[in-house]
Amino acid sequence: MRIPEQKIDEIRQSANIVDIISTHVQLKKRGKNFVGLCPFHTEKTGSFVVSEDKQIYRCFGCGSGGNIFKFLMDYKNISFIEAVQEIADFIGYQLKFEDNNKGEDDVLEVLYEINLTAARFFTDTLYKSNDGEIAREYLKKRNIKPQVQKSFGLGFAPSGWNNFYDHAVANKLDLEKTKLLGLIDKNDSGKFYDKYRGRVIFPIFSPNGRVIAFGGRILENSDNAAKYLNSPENPIYLKRKSLYGLFHSKEEIRKLDKAILVEGYLDLISLFQNGVKNVVASSGTSLTEEQVQLLSRFTKNIIVLFDSDEAGQKAALRSIEILIKSDFDVKVALLPKGEDPDSYIQKNGKEVFDDFLSKSQNFLEFRLRIFEERGMLSDPNEATKVIRETVRIIALVSDKIKQGLLITTLAKKFNLREKMLESELIDYINKQSDQKKPLKETSSTSSFGKLELKNNRDKSSTAQTEKELIRLLFSGDNEIVSAILHDIEPADFTSIIFKELSRIVVENYEDGLIAPAHLIEQINDSELKDYVFNLLFNEEEISPRWSELSHNGEIKKDKIEYAIDHIRKFKVVRFNEQLHELNKKIGETTDSQAIYELLKSIKDMEEEKRRLMSNSKNNNEI
Ligand code: CTP
Ligand code: MN
Repeated sequence: MRIPEQKIDEIRQSANIVDIISTHVQLKKRGKNFVGLCPFHTEKTGSFVVSEDKQIYRCFGCGSGGNIFKFLMDYKNISFIEAVQEIADFIGYQLKFEDNNKGEDDVLEVLYEINLTAARFFTDTLYKSNDGEIAREYLKKRNIKPQVQKSFGLGFAPSGWNNFYDHAVANKLDLEKTKLLGLIDKNDSGKFYDKYRGRVIFPIFSPNGRVIAFGGRILENSDNAAKYLNSPENPIYLKRKSLYGLFHSKEEIRKLDKAILVEGYLDLISLFQNGVKNVVASSGTSLTEEQVQLLSRFTKNIIVLFDSDEAGQKAALRSIEILIKSDFDVKVALLPKGEDPDSYIQKNGKEVFDDFLSKSQNFLEFRLRIFEERGMLSDPNEATKVIRETVRIIALVSDKIKQGLLITTLAKKFNLREKMLESELIDYINKQSDQKKPLKETSSTSSFGKLELKNNRDKSSTAQTEKELIRLLFSGDNEIVSAILHDIEPADFTSIIFKELSRIVVENYEDGLIAPAHLIEQINDSELKDYVFNLLFNEEEISPRWSELSHNGEIKKDKIEYAIDHIRKFKVVRFNEQLHELNKKIGETTDSQAIYELLKSIKDMEEEKRRLMSNSKNNNEI
């Protein structure tokens, strides 16, 4: 679905960012702005600032920021369209989507619809059909209560080659898209057939509760068929970015500020049923950075709970590294041999389970125990390797105090001098940062970095005037923006940053979209965006007079004059530069016709300049 730009603008303007953010973050008024604890990183003092007049927010701790849509997208991990929809609902705005305009969002929407139709078909089969009896029996045997089955949307795909296919045809689903989602496939003779046959279905939800994929478990383990059949990657299902169960557990995870990571669908559901609701499942693959990033919106504390077999140990070791890299506090619990979280909690109940979890080890103890059990620590060569590798992981911990404590623990364990491990750590960190430096510069998202620095330090009056004009261009005041754009083009600015920023304003001005909350989201370059955020939030610092004007009653006329002053200042400087250039050219040329032309230009320009200056004398000094 596509929502016209104009409607999006209307919705943004009708909602108040302070109202929306306040429902999720406690905000206190401070000066013109509102301040609170940033929901996107952990902090004890508020760096999260919301500007009501500009309708944008910015965290001065972690750098996140944007308009109302960006906030909801990040806070709830939803798409832009979903964010617009939510705010429309909040303010009671009727959104009618354009049907005839099939953009990319429409395609995704069709995919979601197909999955929903499939999910309904599978649940109907499970609960209502004779075919479903065998699956109902199975789930009963697995002790999953009907109520819990319902809340996780479990279903059943009957055996047979075309049960769902017939349903898809009857419901006029787009068959190619249905195939893309992995629900049906085509055989050699071009006939479609069902992919999921005789399997219990576990729908996989997005954090926002939409069905993005399916896992299907075979009823009886067999050597001929995979135990689980999972949806292939497709535009709405990126495996590396999705965590099974997060939709159901995110509130509890936030509340307890702790998550438990398990491997299986049934592990998660079983824990949930027994009252352990802060769980996510990696679905048997190894954890990715993107999954960890997603989880970090809800907590930074995690217990990795895996089977104790070799595969479980390996998965745990791999997960630890990724989690540590993202600043998680990581604990590990390995279940007794032959148990998985599902079997363990069903056998022992929640109390024993909680007790077991409370004994989980921090990642360092865990690593060393694993290697000890493998007999690696008694061999000096092997032990050296293990210690090096462990130091390398400790180097990933960003909290320096914690890092120090881990080094102490490691030193004690091996009876080594702490200083020695410390220097090993420092060597490693230095080596890393040497390697990273050139990479970082070339792969940086911004080409403006150095220029910006230069510009910020540039306190010359030209630079200050240009900066002020840019700030005025982002003020959202139509009269001011029109006045500036009437006289100045992007190419007139001396710095490349200002050229680019004014170009963005010009482009959007042509569509009548100049609100700072709109403009800020049009800047793709992260450093440019930061630059504008700072400009918008630190206006007092830059221009005492302007902030006086905006604080003390909206004296519109003064504001316009203030802007015009700056336009004038800018133009005079530009004229002087151009005159200087022309004079230089006259000195370099011998062609009399060319000299004549140049002199004429100079004369025109000086006249123009005089006019500007005398105008300004009537109003204000330059
Ligand atoms: N898995 C998978 N494909 C397989 C096997 C496993 O995708 N062929 C994933 C599933 O997400 C599964 C998880 O890995 O839930 C853990 O696998 P496993 O421990 O074998 O299954 P359980 O979840 O314990 O399922 P069950 O209790 O029904 O055996
Ligand atoms: Mn199991």
